[in-house]
Amino acid sequence: MFKSLLAASVAAVALGAFTPLSAQTAQDPSATPDARADALIARMTRADKLQIVFGYLGTDDESRNGYHRPPLALDGSAGFVPGNPRLGIPPQWQTDAGLGVATQGVARVKRLRTSLPAGIATVSTWDPALARKGGAMIGDEAKRSGFNVMLAGGVNLLREPRNGRGFEYGGEDPLLAGVMVGEQIAGIQSNGVVATIKHYALNDQETERDKSSNAIIDHGALRTSDLLAFQFGIEHGAPGSAMCSYNYVDGLRACENPMLLTQVLRHDWNWPGYVMSDWGATHSTVAAANGGLDQESGFPFDVKPFFGAPLAAAVQSGTVPEARLTEMARRIVRSMLRHGVFDTETSDRSDTIDYAAHAEVTRVDAEAGAVLLQNRNGLLPLAASVKSIAIIGGHADKGVLAGGGSSLVYPRGGNAVPGLKPDTWPGPVVYHPSSPMAAIRRLAPNADVRFADGSDPAAAAALARSSDVAIVFGTQWAGESFDVALTLDGKQDALIDTVAAAQPKTVVVLETGGPVLTPWASRVGAVLEAWYPGTAGGEAIANLVFGKVNPSGHLPATFPASLDQLPHTEAPHGGDVHYSEGAAVGYKWYDAKGFKPAFPFGHGLSYTSFRFSRLKASPSADGLTASVTVTNTGRRAGAAVPQVYLSAPSGVQWEAPRRLGGWAKVMLAPGETRTVTIPIDPRLLATWDEPGHRWNVAAGAYGVTVGASAGDLGERTSVSLPARTIAVGWRPASALRP
Ligand code: GLC
Repeated sequence: MFKSLLAASVAAVALGAFTPLSAQTAQDPSATPDARADALIARMTRADKLQIVFGYLGTDDESRNGYHRPPLALDGSAGFVPGNPRLGIPPQWQTDAGLGVATQGVARVKRLRTSLPAGIATVSTWDPALARKGGAMIGDEAKRSGFNVMLAGGVNLLREPRNGRGFEYGGEDPLLAGVMVGEQIAGIQSNGVVATIKHYALNDQETERDKSSNAIIDHGALRTSDLLAFQFGIEHGAPGSAMCSYNYVDGLRACENPMLLTQVLRHDWNWPGYVMSDWGATHSTVAAANGGLDQESGFPFDVKPFFGAPLAAAVQSGTVPEARLTEMARRIVRSMLRHGVFDTETSDRSDTIDYAAHAEVTRVDAEAGAVLLQNRNGLLPLAASVKSIAIIGGHADKGVLAGGGSSLVYPRGGNAVPGLKPDTWPGPVVYHPSSPMAAIRRLAPNADVRFADGSDPAAAAALARSSDVAIVFGTQWAGESFDVALTLDGKQDALIDTVAAAQPKTVVVLETGGPVLTPWASRVGAVLEAWYPGTAGGEAIANLVFGKVNPSGHLPATFPASLDQLPHTEAPHGGDVHYSEGAAVGYKWYDAKGFKPAFPFGHGLSYTSFRFSRLKASPSADGLTASVTVTNTGRRAGAAVPQVYLSAPSGVQWEAPRRLGGWAKVMLAPGETRTVTIPIDPRLLATWDEPGHRWNVAAGAYGVTVGASAGDLGERTSVSLPARTIAVGWRPASALRP
């Protein structure tokens, strides 16, 4: 009898029936993340905690002293952190990144998955629901590919339009970037995947990013620009993690910077997530751990396993307090618990991915994110009855360009244009096999559609001349670890001029990573910025060119008229980078200087037209609320993006004449009128008060202007507000629970 009872109880314990209360709490989805994390931590030994703060590269890499990934890591992946079976803590399978499930370039076998268009394209939709939907899609592919951490949510401001990674991010305005990237993060995490807002902070260019680059900026300006973007992103997405960046900030490495990692994220914002390093961005044990880094990523990218044996020794000696190690581990497990990693199965079920449905998601995103910059004489949309079309350049007969680096999603169907250089990091140069020309042929089946690759401008011009219309594809390959010129690659500007001289009905379709100079704009008919349009980019471009879809994208970044309009006319460089423009990033700089760009922030044309009227603004509990009436004055349905810009009261100094305060995106039938309400966050009315460590809203009359862009402003009104202070950790009621 006794034996059988003993056997039964042993079995029961093994089955968890008699697990200690804390273990039950830890596994109880109905308990709060904090309660579950506390229960887990109570059972973790020092060794358990040390294990969870140390991450490995998830890919074999012979070039790193013959490195082989841990056995359970998913080959080709960015990272892996072992789990803890005794405590029921799952491993952390980490994948890149913001456009979909990426594969490390050194991996022998690539995961072929669906790619969203570039991050800057998603932000160009100005449609938070679309951003969230795209995040949900790539998070689904991550989860079904066996990942539960997605290193996505790049929100670095486009201070430097030549930033090679600008295509991954959200443009130049903190509100637009933070809201849109935050919504993408929320979408990703809806799959039981922890997302990572990055690269924290001021990794706003690639030159010397992991060597000497030291971002220097006034602290109040930092709070009102890059940090505000992260703050909005955290409030909209509740990311479980943040990735500290390679660069220095005011002389301290970001991953050992107490101001960034402890003061701002924890004390000011009360953010409960964990900070992981970028891959190779950990440079110390004690300074990093005590500064606020919780997890070292991607060993052997770092020169030493700083959070391996050295951390154990530091905790043993007390130079890193045991309590700090406990907090590091607790933040990690709490984020995993908060975002469903414990409660949802993580395994490779990639055979269940619905690629057809996902292609639709990325195509709709690309269509809504393309920006019609110019359309003289209504050249677009083309009629399906057009008789002949010259397609020129940009490998448009084969596919659409993708950006380089860790965010690259390798396409199903393979690289449409293999062999382009560089074919090693930060390459390869990849074209998604979604041919604009093939899609155009499908929409104009009776047209004579011919291709010239652009290598012979005279031949291209001859083809253009003999056609009804010419479509020239202009490309700029950008990518991680390098910055770019503000121009199309090679001699494409000259090619465009040559074609336009031969064919006045010339359309330019741009596939770029960000703004470029457009010296030929006055000599062409229409210009469509498609960015890197992702897996279904060819179809998206064709649908826009033929008007199956009405363009509704708006620029999240200013297109300069010349380089001397930039705050930094010299090319990006290493060493100290003085961001003397402060918070006057992008359009704010142009407004402050009185510069007229080629195409302003917020600009985007439609095949219909809109009128904004009856602007009103009134104080609200939080800040203020604006309302505007939008009318579709054209003959076809379309989506308008009324933008509300704020101005300081007289006598109050902001960084620039105007700040984006809010916007709406509204689809209207021809002749339809609708009034939209736009809430304005109070911090956008405030200045940072360093001594008071808070925001101050001055008493006075605030200007409220509605516009179709920062350069096309309409009705203006004003609202008188009383003085108020806003605590540094204030969050709107709408903020997502962290
Ligand atoms: C890279 C990138 C980062 C990426 C990580 C893992 O260097 O900076 O965005 O998530 O390493 O690949």
